[in-house]
Amino acid sequence: MSHDFDQLTQYAKSFTGLTAEYEELLQEIGPQIIPSLKTVTESFYSQLSSIPETKPFLEGRIDALRAMHTQWLEGLFINDFDTSYTESMYKVGDVHVKVKLPVEFMSGGMTLINSQLIPVVISLFGDSPDKCSKVLSAINAATGFSLLTMQQSYQESSLAEELEKFLKISGMSKVLFSNLASAYKD
Ligand code: HEM
Repeated sequence: MSHDFDQLTQYAKSFTGLTAEYEELLQEIGPQIIPSLKTVTESFYSQLSSIPETKPFLEGRIDALRAMHTQWLEGLFINDFDTSYTESMYKVGDVHVKVKLPVEFMSGGMTLINSQLIPVVISLFGDSPDKCSKVLSAINAATGFSLLTMQQSYQESSLAEELEKFLKISGMSKVLFSNLASAYKD
């Protein structure tokens, strides 16, 4: 399946309110916040380890996961949220689909991450309420953007599963289905 990552980038930005001003702010505060992100990752995995449903997915790979996760988290304050970021997050989503991680782990995980970033932001910028509030909104937009683009993989894999099921039940070949689909105009 081919993807229009440009369109997905614009769509995700419109939904999450990730503006150019927020992207600039995230990169501006990067040097201040990045040193605290290892601790955020540590608390993320210790919280995940206490949830019975997530534990089995962590066993034997927690050190590797921590390293990948910290790198992703740091990227929020370094990278541009452009087409190539969207494509990379789509691929990260696909890795989760392939290891059969339930879809709610994505939104649950991002909620934990946001909650752990809040006290870090307050400790850094709490003496300036206006800046603090802008930084919190910018982070919320960036994590929301990452969540939306990761979850797109889940959506497409569930459509592909439905199609496989339909072909199996109907006995129709994939080639016939593709020919019919390309001839169909609504
Ligand atoms: C919601 C925020 C999350 C982010 C941003 C995230 C990020 C990542 C990244 C960047 C990778 C590496 C992908 C690659 O190989 O290129 C990865 C892989 C993985 N993540 Fe996540 N993740 C999240 C949530 C979770 C949760 C909640 C779990 C499990 C409880 C989880 C389990 C895994 C597993 C099992 C892999 C595959 C590791 C392997 O290849 O052995 N992730 N994740």
